[in-house]
Amino acid sequence: MPVFPQRIRAVAAPAIPTARAWAASYRGQAGPVIDVTQAVPGYPAHPDLLNRISVAARTTVYGDITGDIELRAALAADLRACYGTAIETADVAITAGCNLAFTMAMTALAGTGDAVMLPAPWYFNHHMALTMLGIEPVALPCRPEQGFVPDPAEAAKLITPTTRAIVLVTPNNPTGAIYPPETIAAFAELCRARGLFLVLDETYRDFLPNGRPHEVFALPDWRDFAVQLYSFSKSYCIPGHRTGAIVAGPAVQEQLAKVLDTMQICPPRAAQAPLAWAIEALRPGARPTAL
Ligand SMILES: Cc1ncc(COP(=O)(O)O)c(C=O)c1O
Repeated sequence: MPVFPQRIRAVAAPAIPTARAWAASYRGQAGPVIDVTQAVPGYPAHPDLLNRISVAARTTVYGDITGDIELRAALAADLRACYGTAIETADVAITAGCNLAFTMAMTALAGTGDAVMLPAPWYFNHHMALTMLGIEPVALPCRPEQGFVPDPAEAAKLITPTTRAIVLVTPNNPTGAIYPPETIAAFAELCRARGLFLVLDETYRDFLPNGRPHEVFALPDWRDFAVQLYSFSKSYCIPGHRTGAIVAGPAVQEQLAKVLDTMQICPPRAAQAPLAWAIEALRPGARPTAL
């Protein structure tokens, strides 16, 4: 049999089935199993959203590479309301979920042999994606005694000539840590000063109780180095409809367009028009506001 490349052999097996197999073989000696392997809402999607998706599912043609303009505009408006700054439709690309958003962003931002810092313990798919792209994942320690919040000074010491980006995940999976805006601002300053991309995975931002998650989008030059990843999976309880987003400036979008076209052609159609409606219509009553 031909040999598989080291790049893919080095990737860990999918973690959730592995953990579920452990659970299946567990005999209950230490109490019942609590399955926290996958963050899925414990309540159903809004019925009006589901009805709209079932109608929109009749749309079977390809759409725009960066997603439906209506959804991009609606998410840009949502981001403006959340962060209080001018985020435009052109800054938003819709993706087939936030996991693919990460993989596609990393394909655009880093190359084989480059290094990217991940908050550790990491979200396993981030580590898997970097490894299969031939990008070295560098652990940015997040210690329990520091509330699992990474330290920008420690990150500065980990930067090498091959470092291309620092990833922050806030609120964090798996630790649940919410990084203070000042910490995120310090990471933004570090990335700007050292010529790195700052990649913010904000899959869980809608679950923050209140307030602005950070002020990065208020920086006049955020489009030069900051990239935000978002997921509709949890906020709207539709993880199977694979819808997420990448928020980034024009230079990143220009390179990203090549990756989006190659990897997804267009994001899945069915949930896009319904989500454009839902962003406004379901705020805030039918959307969760606290973890
Ligand atoms: C931090 C983080 N990013 C991305 C994802 C994946 O989101 P999506 O369903 O949009 O691909 C998850 C889901 O568990 C997550 O926890």
